Amino acid sequence: MSDGAPARTVRPITPAQVRLLRHAVLRSFEPPEQIIYHGDEAPDTLHAGAFRGDELVGIASVCREGMPAGREPGGWRLRGMATLPAVRGEGYGRALLEECFTHIRAQGGTLLWCNARVVALGFYEHLGFVAEGDEFDIPPIGPHYVMTRRL
Ligand SMILES: CC(C)(COP(=O)(O)OP(=O)(O)OC[C@H]1O[C@@H](n2cnc3c(N)ncnc32)[C@H](O)[C@@H]1OP(=O)(O)O)[C@@H](O)C(=O)NCCC(=O)NCCS
Repeated sequence: MSDGAPARTVRPITPAQVRLLRHAVLRSFEPPEQIIYHGDEAPDTLHAGAFRGDELVGIASVCREGMPAGREPGGWRLRGMATLPAVRGEGYGRALLEECFTHIRAQGGTLLWCNARVVALGFYEHLGFVAEGDEFDIPPIGPHYVMTRRL
């Protein structure tokens, strides 16, 4: 880049790479190799990695999974949305989600949902998600809402 700042890129990464950041940012109480989510190995799952230069600084994964309680079967689920504290507010989270939206649309998907941590609600709202239903707790992490994004 002309200003000398490291380039920001988003590209597919492996489940092993994604687990390192899941551990670092989201689930430090579990070893990385045990942070395995349903759908991680499915062929149409996307593990998106955001890079600042060569450094992996953010992750997001999307897999085919209907919403809880059978609502809206055929949806896609977002898991493991995280950026390193040093890069927050610089657009990496948005770039990751936009890559996920593109991937889901290319597969014919029209709905993305997630269990959103309350501390991240504002981020998701900025990206067009809407909270649904009541707050609920996921121990040991804390309060969450289901959020949905129409695509
Ligand atoms: C939530 C998280 C992924 C956001 O990533 P980020 O790289 O800071 O996001 P961006 O810089 O792309 O922000 C996109 C927009 O959301 C806004 N935003 C980011 N975090 C926000 C928050 N917590 N509350 C309100 N707005 C927020 C930004 O200001 C920006 O707004 P703009 O487009 O008008 O400038 C990051 O803070 C994080 O990893 N948090 C800890 C882990 C976590 O809670 N993950 C979510 C699990 S459900």
